[in-house]
Amino acid sequence: MLVEAEHLYKRFTEKRTKRAADACVDVSLVIEHGKTLGLVGESGCGKTTVGRILLRLIDPDSGSVLLDSCDVTRLKENQLRPMRKRFQMIFQESSSAFNPRMKVSDALKESLRLYRRYKPRELKSRADFLLSRVNLSRGSAENFIGNLSGGELKRLDIARALSIEPEFIVADEPLALLDMSIQSQIANLLLDIQREKEISLLFISHDLRMVEMLSHSVAVMYMGRILEYARISVIRERPLHPYTRYLWNPETASVLAGLPEGGCVYRSRCGLYEESGSPTRCIRETPVLIEKEKGHLVACHFA
Ligand SMILES: Nc1ncnc2c1ncn2[C@@H]1O[C@H](COP(=O)(O)OP(=O)(O)OP(=O)(O)O)[C@@H](O)[C@H]1O
Ligand SMILES: [Mg+2]
Repeated sequence: MLVEAEHLYKRFTEKRTKRAADACVDVSLVIEHGKTLGLVGESGCGKTTVGRILLRLIDPDSGSVLLDSCDVTRLKENQLRPMRKRFQMIFQESSSAFNPRMKVSDALKESLRLYRRYKPRELKSRADFLLSRVNLSRGSAENFIGNLSGGELKRLDIARALSIEPEFIVADEPLALLDMSIQSQIANLLLDIQREKEISLLFISHDLRMVEMLSHSVAVMYMGRILEYARISVIRERPLHPYTRYLWNPETASVLAGLPEGGCVYRSRCGLYEESGSPTRCIRETPVLIEKEKGHLVACHFA
């Protein structure tokens, strides 16, 4: 395993309202060398928070993250620096990773320089190579970043993440906000790169179908918790959790309003809860992720 996260917990308190909310509750996951784990769930369920914790861009309140057997949650910033070269993030908002007034080639050279792997005279040819790798034209090297289209900017962000030849990349919604045709180009690019370099990938998306294209395993997240976790073939053929079934088939949605808090986080939307006559167990007891079949973990009392 390249990545092993155990029992991650993170609570945010909003500064203005002082309201606290759990963004990530008891999240455990593993990613093998050269494999992709898809992390899927709707907006606000905590996907970015998990990705950021894995790369120690934020600290968890509790839990541990082993990257290549090293617990990064316990490292000091100076010990983290050499680790950071091995792990990268493709940001949900790629624009926030760049200065829009910078030229494409300069931004890439800057990130190459930061990691001191290349000699100054090698920087230009390495930047050109990266641009061609992500199918950005040579002409775009002299473009200002602020003038790039959404798809071009995403490619540049992928090039930046690749620049230091990382072993693990967190790709946070890399396909969101792009046209369908561009989405499949970027998805294919990620697939190619991953196969070629044997990079481990955490692929974050709100779209289970996109996750299916790219991932070997999937973790389905809802309100900070993982509700189902298995290999993609298992999730495709035999999804057990009502939420995963809903993600495959969104037209089956129903929301029960005004339920008291507590118990299962998915209860207010769960068809199975309704069908089973609102069992008290779902109200009293928060289901934990347990292995229902070999390698197939589900957090539901009745799945
Ligand atoms: N720095 C922060 N301060 C306060 N609350 C935060 C912070 N970061 C995230 N949150 C809250 O934590 C929860 C999870 O956020 P997160 O960004 O991880 O969700 P997400 O699944 O990535 O959503 P999206 O699909 O919209 O990107 C949300 O309720 C969010 O408002
Ligand atoms: Mg996010």
